[in-house]
Amino acid sequence: MSDKLTFIVNGERIDLMDFSPTQTLLSFLRNQRALTGSKEGCAEGDCGACTVIVGELENGSIRYRAINACITFLPMLHNKLVITVEGIAGPQAELHPVQQAIIDHHGSQCGFCTPGFVTSLTAAHLSGEQPDRAGINDILAGNLCRCTGYGPLISAGEQALAQASPDWQKARQKKSEKLLQDIASDQACIFQCEGQRWDMPVSLSELAQLYKQYPEAILVAGASDIGLWVTKQLRQLPHLIDVTRVAKLCEIDEQDESLCIGAGVRYQDAMEIIAALYPDFGELVRRIGGRQVRNTGTIGANIANGSPIGDTPPALIALGAQLVLRCGSKTRSMPLEDYFISYGRQDRAKGEFVEAIEIPKLDDPDQLKCYKLSKRFDQDISSLCGCFNIEVAKGKVIAARIAYGGMAGIPQRAQAVEQALIGKPWSRAAIEAAMLAYGDDFSPLGDMRGSSDYRLLAASNLLLKVFEESRAPLVDTRLVGRGSALQ
Ligand SMILES: Cc1cc2nc3c(=O)[nH]c(=O)nc-3n(C[C@H](O)[C@H](O)[C@H](O)COP(=O)(O)OP(=O)(O)OC[C@H]3O[C@@H](n4cnc5c(N)ncnc54)[C@H](O)[C@@H]3O)c2cc1C
Ligand code: FES
Ligand code: FES
Repeated sequence: MSDKLTFIVNGERIDLMDFSPTQTLLSFLRNQRALTGSKEGCAEGDCGACTVIVGELENGSIRYRAINACITFLPMLHNKLVITVEGIAGPQAELHPVQQAIIDHHGSQCGFCTPGFVTSLTAAHLSGEQPDRAGINDILAGNLCRCTGYGPLISAGEQALAQASPDWQKARQKKSEKLLQDIASDQACIFQCEGQRWDMPVSLSELAQLYKQYPEAILVAGASDIGLWVTKQLRQLPHLIDVTRVAKLCEIDEQDESLCIGAGVRYQDAMEIIAALYPDFGELVRRIGGRQVRNTGTIGANIANGSPIGDTPPALIALGAQLVLRCGSKTRSMPLEDYFISYGRQDRAKGEFVEAIEIPKLDDPDQLKCYKLSKRFDQDISSLCGCFNIEVAKGKVIAARIAYGGMAGIPQRAQAVEQALIGKPWSRAAIEAAMLAYGDDFSPLGDMRGSSDYRLLAASNLLLKVFEESRAPLVDTRLVGRGSALQ
């Protein structure tokens, strides 16, 4: 058991003891290391001004990810490396290709958001991504520029990402690999300071035992929700248990009939396989937050948090997914829709946690249709999200699973609509008749994201959209899985 947090910042090893485990990386960098290049714009993961690059060893080489330092807690960096905007240029102050390209294209206007753009693009460069323009938009979707500078920044991305790594970068990479190997450890950790505690178990049984013993502790995965409890709600979190070092929870297991995703798998890591098996669901995942949020956030927590507007539950319910829960050595599974009881209430006992989600495969991957309606296309929470798994044979609907987020206090199936469809012809008249059943299924609330009337009308119109698109498929605008080198 270790109580020392070890990580690397811009090539320098850092060992910490007696630190607050809910101190954010951004606060540490700016206040304790005087690395003030990373800015605080929103402190809630939305603007990307605080973007830094985190690297960790995966199969012997470094996997780089852009993340938001403002909602990343220090323990989440254990055994990893951090590169801030100050650590991007070469040892003789040579500019990195990304920095040079931003100068060449006049991509820096106010300068406040520029470090975040540089780090997001550099993370993509270090990862060897070679995206097209749409792919660069995706890389930058989590970075806000309010001064209309996107055109030059995207052009800078095109220039930089087409260039090879300079020799000094390759040498630095080798050094970084060595540094990471030196600090690698598979020991469990407990970080404690002034009444706060952060447990970091490394096996499933340790995690299960700990949570059973301390059911009042808060489980933490990517902290893309919990980070805001600290930075926005100023909550004191006395005891956290980190699930992300448990190898079993970070596995994706594809079988002939199903896909099983561990609760600690990050969105970005699950996206490719989800897109391959259920293309529309892959695109839905791509529209969760920006790249920085997807690089930390997990599907397990998107389910566990019970949010009525989480984006993955409607798709998973439409697919007929089973949720696997564990308490101690006992596991149980249930259809995902049964987990959500009412607003803020889920079928999860004390000391029980989400272990995995099992998703059946479809014979026709395009049978699942997902639509997310939000005020902004990227990096926005859904006003509503509708997912449709409708099977038609010989011109008749033979099965239908339809689920929505944003239409009730929980993610919920449209059972009256399903019943109105099953056995009927797949025709415009039958669809219009089924649309009348939405009022039986839902009486949504109105809020800043959409009025009750808007939600009801939009939800039923989505069914019509599914029908119309089945007759005249639209141009495919999905990004993941169409070879645009999104990673
Ligand atoms: C800028 C921004 C944009 C976002 N955009 C979207 C969006 O477009 N769509 C969307 O759906 N969400 C969005 N979110 C919300 C958030 O990213 C998701 O809810 C995400 O799935 C949370 O995952 P996490 O691993 O970061 O959770 P954490 O913050 O670590 O935890 C969230 C909750 O889940 C619990 N938990 C974690 N793991 C487990 C487990 N294994 N078992 C039981 N409980 C567990 C925690 O205790 C906590 O209550 C956004 C968030 C931010 C900051
Ligand atoms: S400060 Fe805005 S995302 Fe971190
Ligand atoms: S460069 Fe800062 S807002 Fe555009």
